[in-house]
Amino acid sequence: MDRFIIKGKNRLSGEIAVCGAKNATLPVMAATILTEGEFVLDNVPNLIDIRTMGHLLRILGARVEHDNGQLSIDTKNLNSWEAPYELVSKMRASIYVLGPLLARFGKAKVSFPGGCAIGTRPVDLHLMAMEKMGAKISIEHGYILAECDRLHGADIDFKKVSVGATANSLMAAVLADGETNLYNCAIEPEIQSFIDFLNEMGARISGKGTSHLQITGVSSLKAINSRMLSDRIEAGTFLIAGAITGSEITLTNCVPTHLGEFFDKLKLTGSDFNIEGSRITIKPASEIKPVNIKTAPFPEYPTDLQAQFMALMCLADGESIIEEGIFPDRFTHAAELNRLDASITIEGNMARVKGVKKLSGAPVMATDLRASAALVLAGLAAEGITDIARIYHIDRGYEDFEIKLQKLGADIRRVK
Ligand code: UD1
Repeated sequence: MDRFIIKGKNRLSGEIAVCGAKNATLPVMAATILTEGEFVLDNVPNLIDIRTMGHLLRILGARVEHDNGQLSIDTKNLNSWEAPYELVSKMRASIYVLGPLLARFGKAKVSFPGGCAIGTRPVDLHLMAMEKMGAKISIEHGYILAECDRLHGADIDFKKVSVGATANSLMAAVLADGETNLYNCAIEPEIQSFIDFLNEMGARISGKGTSHLQITGVSSLKAINSRMLSDRIEAGTFLIAGAITGSEITLTNCVPTHLGEFFDKLKLTGSDFNIEGSRITIKPASEIKPVNIKTAPFPEYPTDLQAQFMALMCLADGESIIEEGIFPDRFTHAAELNRLDASITIEGNMARVKGVKKLSGAPVMATDLRASAALVLAGLAAEGITDIARIYHIDRGYEDFEIKLQKLGADIRRVK
């Protein structure tokens, strides 16, 4: 298994381009199931999760080719509605095929996604929405079995804001008979770009950017070409790389407005920014101020940038509180950061981070995707060598992470 060896304390400089967003691309890939035809998607990152979804589409009968940021998906010969355990267990977002398979074939058999390193992640909201639209659902031998004649419109009120359940329900509703109202929807930028994508395919969805979406079902959709949204989480991670190493770096291909509350919080730590269109330059603070965050649905602070912010707070001049409002157990990185001499205590869904003067390198273990990124960030700022095991998590969500960091001047190498 690959590891990263980081020699910390290098000052970074220069410019890197942010990739297309994994979380914007995955629902789009699943939505290709909704019709027969050839899609060409641009700005697609080369990541394990994208390959897993591609593999799943191939198993369903699609032709999938990924070359140099361009992904072609031909769904003409799609003829299966079964998503096997081997793939769903690798990536929870495989549940995205449930809605479109039901909409296109009237049946779906999708392995029940298990727990994962960031806690129990149920799919009850996805199933509730499909049932409201007329699907009969049962769970047998670890599989979700869903069947319907044709899905019909329904009024669906999510008890919790869920990115995945919003996207899955949209895919089910676009081909349903009649009108669907989805209440308490996610409004993350990836959902908004997904609505644009579905509408370009011929869907009729209104309410984009609000928590109430209205969908008028249509009888068919068409295949299209589309460019994937820039990855706000990758952008945020690199901005923190600048802040934690005291380095001025520039990111291109960003959408600054998508950084929401993250930007405001990073400013409060003392960093400044220069924004020109899709370019952001961070002017780091000489002293990092402690700032409290609480993760919540967009536009509030994103849970996918919680671990990285915690790494930054380890070196702040004082104490900060980090509250996890989405995945209460998402703190496995805290114990690993403490191995680098950080001072973090966990109390329920809260972390108390006492800033220390310096971090010192040590062997650590990557536990989930964003936690791994936090360890890399801490390693960049730590004295000595940080040796990070199990970095396959990073390859699920960051394209060429160490290559981009090397380009900025970091001393990081991958050991096979
Ligand atoms: C997506 C993102 C993930 C991000 C998360 C929250 C993708 C592929 N993944 O995950 O990176 O961390 O949004 O922004 O886009 N919940 C239920 N029942 C359900 C579904 C969710 O209770 O049926 C709960 C979850 O446990 C969690 C909350 O709702 O507490 C939000 O989860 P959700 O937005 O669904 O996360 P994902 O779509 O899985």
